[in-house]
This record gives sequence, C-alpha cells and structure tokens, in this order.
Amino acid sequence: MQLPQLVQTQFLSVHDAANVIHKIGLKTVFTRLADYIRADYLRWHDFEKCARVANHSTDGVIELMPISDANSYAFKYVNGHPKNTINGLPCVMAFGVLADVATGIPEFLSELTLSTALRTAAMSAVAAQELARPDSKTMALIGNGAQSEFQALAFHYLLGIEEIRLFDTDPKATEKLIANLQSTALRLKVCSSIAEAVRGANIATTVTADKTNAAILTADLIEPGMHINGVGGDCPGKTELHPDVLRRSAVFVEYEPQTRIEGDLQHLPADFAVTEFWQVLARQAPGRRDADQITLFDSVGFALQDYSALRFMRDAARELGLGQLVSLIPELVNPKDLFVLIHPDTHVNQEPHRDEASQPAVAPLLADTLPVPA
Ligand SMILES: NC(=O)c1ccc[n+]([C@@H]2O[C@H](COP(=O)([O-])OP(=O)(O)OC[C@H]3O[C@@H](n4cnc5c(N)ncnc54)[C@H](O)[C@@H]3O)[C@@H](O)[C@H]2O)c1
Repeated sequence: MQLPQLVQTQFLSVHDAANVIHKIGLKTVFTRLADYIRADYLRWHDFEKCARVANHSTDGVIELMPISDANSYAFKYVNGHPKNTINGLPCVMAFGVLADVATGIPEFLSELTLSTALRTAAMSAVAAQELARPDSKTMALIGNGAQSEFQALAFHYLLGIEEIRLFDTDPKATEKLIANLQSTALRLKVCSSIAEAVRGANIATTVTADKTNAAILTADLIEPGMHINGVGGDCPGKTELHPDVLRRSAVFVEYEPQTRIEGDLQHLPADFAVTEFWQVLARQAPGRRDADQITLFDSVGFALQDYSALRFMRDAARELGLGQLVSLIPELVNPKDLFVLIHPDTHVNQEPHRDEASQPAVAPLLADTLPVPA
C-alpha cells in the first residue's frame, strides 16, 4: 500500500521559546544569536532581499518581511501599534516561518514576539561592537518598554556595558525594568530627563514607541565619540531623531532601500550618504574611524535578522527537544487528490463532540447530494 508523504512542521510556542531561553541562559542566547546574525550578514549576496510590505492604519502598521537564499525562505508577520499597551496588548507582536525552498514545505513555525526582542537587541549589540568606542561602559536607554531589558542585557553581555541610564515618559515602565534587572550586575540609574540620561553616556539607545516624528535626541545632546542606537524610528511618520543628529553622524543601516522609507533617514535627502552594515562586517567599508566620530545605527529591523532568529530558535529547540510537530500541510497518498480529505467515505472528524445535543446538524457536503434511497 502506498503511504502518504509525511509533511510535518516543527512548532515553537511562546512557552517553548521562553523555555529555550531558560535552559540556555540569556548570555549564551545573545552570544549564539549574534554569531548567527554575523554569519548570515556575511552571506549578504546569497539572499533575495526586498523592503518589507507594510499596511498602514490610523494607529499602527502590519508588516510582512520575506527573505530567501537558495535553501531557505523566511517570513515574519509583525505589527507595530504604540497605543496597544493602553489596552493590555503588546505594541509589537510577531510570528514567522522557515520554509524549504526546494519544495515549499513550511518546516518551522514559531512565535516571534520574544524572538524579535532577542534578535533586535542582538543586532544592536553586533552593530555597536563595530561602531561604538571599544571602551564604552555607559549607555542611556530612552524608552523602557517591552524591548528595553533585552537591549540592556545584550549590551551588558556582548559589549561589557556596566551602567544604564534610564528615561521613559512613563515612570512605571522604568520601575518595571529595574525590578526585572535588579539581580544583574548592571548599575541602573533613573534619570529625570532625556538630557540627563544622555549626558556623558558612551552609547545612546532610543527605543520608544509613538506614532509621530519625535525628536527624542537633538544635536545639542550628542557628544563626540558617542554611538547612537536608534531602534524605535521604524515606520513612515514614526521617528525619534532630529535630522541634525543624522547630519552630525556617520550613519549605518541594515538594508538601505527599506531604511530610506522607514528609518530616521526618511527625513534626509535621497543622496544623503549611508553605509549598509554588512559592508562593515565584510571589511568592505570602515566602521568607526576615530574616537571622536559620532556613529549612528539607524535600525528599523530587517528580514535577515528574523531569518537568523528563526534558524537559531529552530536549532536550539531541536537540541533541547522542545516544541511539537503539527500538521499544517495535508499528507496525501495521491498528491493530486486533495478532495479525499473531505470525502464522506474517508473524512474522520478529529474533534470529539463534547455535547452531541448542542452540535449543529451536519450539512451535506455537496449541495446536490441526493438522499440515499432507503
Ligand atoms: N528596529 C527594530 O528592529 C525594532 C524591533 C522591535 C521594536 N522596534 C520598535 O521599538 C519601539 C519600542 O518597542 P516596545 O515593544 O518596547 O514598545 P513599548 O510600547 O513596550 O515601549 C515603548 C516605551 O516608549 C515610551 N515612550 C514613548 N514616547 C516616549 C518619549 N517621548 N520619551 C521617552 N519614552 C517614551 C513608552 O512610555 C513605553 O514605555 C517601537 O517603536 C517598536 O516599533 C524596533
């Protein structure tokens, strides 16, 4: 007898993703994820790339982020709704898929809300390793929401940042961060203004959420030698840095066509010079030139980082035996016979009827099915 081709997808839930992190430890997670990101960025030309597809609405955006190489295709579904937190929902929610290019089979389906926070922070740290002064010890962290602890810890573990200066317009967000990170070796200082947080800091990270063209950092706050890690300006009409901050800096981006639309770069003319970060990693362009240069990573989040995050979470979950196999794709003896799945002779209802009496009457599958003669 011919057996159906097995097509199962490995599924990683939020719970299992959190378990992966618990079992490996955040320092190792950031270290390994940074290695995956670096390895993938060094294969830049292997990837078919495009700016993400964004559907905008009054209060937010929903985006699809595809990318592929010869073997794997990845996409992420992600939103950005800054007002969501008022209603008890995260600003950013995401999931994604890794698929086999040769057959199109979706091999790995994962939560990506937690993984996005991990990969964004790891990417910021990888960029800062190349662009910040190597003796950096202090970082201002403006915006203390969902992404913030991940940013603080990635910079602590991967760059040796010892002190974080915190500011958020919502003091409760800062209190939450301090409670979450109190057992770490980081020195956490609450500041009463952005200026106080940024003054004297080696690195300034902006990770705020507001659907407006904000000026979280202005040129007068920027000191020689500073590295700016701009994370929250990631959508048309949603920026964080005054254009003069970019004019004073050497600006590095993930994927130029996307950042021109979405980054703080959107306020600058089309010929304003930027460097794609992969070139720095590949030693095809310089990173920081000298101790006084101001460097800026205008991060918007690029599909390649999600490809890396999906690869890392898939591999880590497999090593740990976490996740489960789910049936997303039908398994068929005859791949041209999809109808067999619903044919009355073969269809088996998997859902147990808890209360038969409350079940609606089953409609005939085919509207013109004739009653079987008695
Ligand atoms: N670049 C990337 O790859 C990437 C990835 C993930 C998220 N993001 C962006 O990062 C930002 C933060 O995401 P999140 O999940 O932490 O959101 P969040 O809503 O959980 O936190 C945002 C915080 O910013 C604070 N804030 C808003 N305006 C401020 C201001 N003017 N000054 C100081 N603080 C202010 C809010 O009070 C809130 O605590 C969002 O804009 C999101 O789109 C970017």
